[in-house]
Amino acid sequence: YDPNFIRNVAIIAHIDHGKTTLMDRILELTHSIDERNMREQFLDSMDLEREKGITIKSHPVKVFYTSKKGQDYELNILDTPGHIDFTYEVSRSLAACEGAILLVDATQGVQAQTVTNTYLALENDLEIIGAINKIDLPSANVEETLLEINDLVGIDSDSIVKISAKTGEGVSELLELIIEKVPPPTLKGSINDKLKALVFDAKYDKYRGIIVYTRVFAGTVKKEDNILFMASGKSYEVSEVGVFHPEMVEIDNLSAGEIGYIIAGIKEIQEAKVGDTITNAQDPTDKPLPGYKEVKPMVYAGLYPGLPEYYEDLRKALEKLKLNDASLVFLPENSPALGYGFRVGFLGLLHMEIVKERIQREFDLAVILTVPSVIYNAKLKNGEVIQITNPSQFPDQEYIESVYEPYCKLDIITPPEFMGDLINLAQVEKRGEFLYVSNAGKNRVVLHFEIPLAEIIFDFFDKMKALSKGYASMDYELIGYRESKLVKIEIYINKEKVDALSYIVHESKAYEIARKLVDKLKDLIPRHQFEIPIQAYCKGKIIARSTIKALRKDVLQKCYGGDVTRKMKLLEKQKEGKKRMREIGEVSIPQEAFLALLKID
Ligand code: GTP
Repeated sequence: YDPNFIRNVAIIAHIDHGKTTLMDRILELTHSIDERNMREQFLDSMDLEREKGITIKSHPVKVFYTSKKGQDYELNILDTPGHIDFTYEVSRSLAACEGAILLVDATQGVQAQTVTNTYLALENDLEIIGAINKIDLPSANVEETLLEINDLVGIDSDSIVKISAKTGEGVSELLELIIEKVPPPTLKGSINDKLKALVFDAKYDKYRGIIVYTRVFAGTVKKEDNILFMASGKSYEVSEVGVFHPEMVEIDNLSAGEIGYIIAGIKEIQEAKVGDTITNAQDPTDKPLPGYKEVKPMVYAGLYPGLPEYYEDLRKALEKLKLNDASLVFLPENSPALGYGFRVGFLGLLHMEIVKERIQREFDLAVILTVPSVIYNAKLKNGEVIQITNPSQFPDQEYIESVYEPYCKLDIITPPEFMGDLINLAQVEKRGEFLYVSNAGKNRVVLHFEIPLAEIIFDFFDKMKALSKGYASMDYELIGYRESKLVKIEIYINKEKVDALSYIVHESKAYEIARKLVDKLKDLIPRHQFEIPIQAYCKGKIIARSTIKALRKDVLQKCYGGDVTRKMKLLEKQKEGKKRMREIGEVSIPQEAFLALLKID
């Protein structure tokens, strides 16, 4: 152990620019994993991650590298997620490092997340190493990318390495540059000081309990030490310390400057709060490390079991998921239409989709998800201020003094030819306000807007991608609440109010959206034996309606009563189908209907 020869770096990049591939090359180059064991990509180990090809959790890795001058170094490299929903995971990893590799895809150029992540790294005082990736591709535009990095992120072109994470070209030059430029961890604390270790992540493991991912800033920690989590005030005896090599490998001591894990009989993930400082319970430090901002959910949606009897199973599934995903929040909720379920908070729609998929796959539960909503604030005439996470709780208009909705600062980076369409999208269609445009490189502009969060969480991203042929990228940040003329629309199906379909919308769009929604519902709800009226109410008036015509023939009539097995099969099939349907009064409503609002244009 010599901290002068340790380097801690995170890889930051826009989604798909090649972080995971680069990590794999580094593992190979440093002979850190047996080639026979090398799955296509070692690091994206969660099934869902591999399938979607995106990194969700950060994975730390320790490798040994012998420099060209013959000196041995220990490199700790943290892979970080690139998607906007997981930005908070990036900032956690950065706080554990002294340097960052900024990876930019030469075929895509600088994108919105590249810029955001660079600012995060700068805020953390990290030494940034620029690397242009995918230079093996014929469509790589290295010169232009150099210019963009220079303009947008301010890194000097001469110091940027050109690599191919795929072929390995330039990767050892990159490692040399890390050794040369990133400072060793020695300035931040010494092994002789009292223990100070940052919890930058935590994971639940079926067999070993909670595993705490930590960066030691000062002192040392070993098996049988008594450690204290300074924020939660809880102490535990350490049962194991180790490093990620890339699998977990036990070591004797984890000391100042190192990144690794601690296992200490911690039962609940809440007890190992990310951002907390660990110190020695017998010989504690008096000052904790600066922590992190708490992450708050951006959107809420209702999550209900496909069948009411699975409520308990759904609760258990959510509790299990929370062990690995501290950002997940949920509370029991009761909907007249859907029965008992949960109101779940998510960081964004990708996060929502991932949670839903995991529940269906890992726990084999059919679930109904309702349209997500942002958090509104309302000031009532009696002076009370309430928070609305569920549109059905939106008070009747006569009690409301004023309503407030969350606003964001939105930046879109795009080639200039798409500028007009994108401004139109944000400003005309989505209630945004265009502020100004700035230049970046020869062929990129940055558009700056302020816009309601509710307008960008649904289909904004897809529309932006479609309008810009996939070239534009976006990033947003909450800037606070603003007063807004919002109204609630309620949907009645067959004269019964379906609370799970209530939604909040800007007054100017109420008619248009109500119209589209009742039409969409008409397409999504199957015909029944009787006619079904669908009505949209707003401020006590019907503002749109449609009707589902009655079905003429009974399905069973087709079988003449002769073929019993066929009849049984049909009934079985209907039952199966019903599992995913909800009975509202006499009407069966399929799951898709509860997301109809997401699908209207
Ligand atoms: P997220 O984890 O989702 O943020 O993505 P990532 O940055 O980890 O990207 P990943 O490593 O999964 O790479 C995205 C795609 O680019 C994959 O199909 C890789 O095979 C490909 N790729 C990465 N680096 C290179 C490269 O140097 N050359 C070529 N030709 N393809 C590359």
